[in-house]
Amino acid sequence: MTEATAVTAGVTDGYVRVCSVEDLPTVGAVQVEIDGKVLAVVRDSAGDIHAIDDTCSHANVSLSEGDVEGGAIECWLHGSRFDLRTGEPTSPPAITPIAVYPVKINGGDVFVSVTKEN
Ligand code: FES
Repeated sequence: MTEATAVTAGVTDGYVRVCSVEDLPTVGAVQVEIDGKVLAVVRDSAGDIHAIDDTCSHANVSLSEGDVEGGAIECWLHGSRFDLRTGEPTSPPAITPIAVYPVKINGGDVFVSVTKEN
């Protein structure tokens, strides 16, 4: 079970600090909440960090509880995989993309902009 990480610090240039890079698993996701929006912050197999809507587009399931493999996260309930760069589902049953948000890394912290979707 993944618990939401509290957002602890300020806003820079529309970007909100959501966690430290070291809070993330080597490959995997944590759930964060920004202004009532629940996101998954994900480190992929290449070490790149992404921010996506945490809720699967197929049903009300937390994607941060799924497995990360390569550049995709897999929903644990029915196995749809979502591309972490585009939010597009790459396998059924989900057919609707999830939102993807811009991420900046600064001083070991992860910042996400929820005002713009990629
Ligand atoms: S709930 Fe995610 S694929 Fe069905």
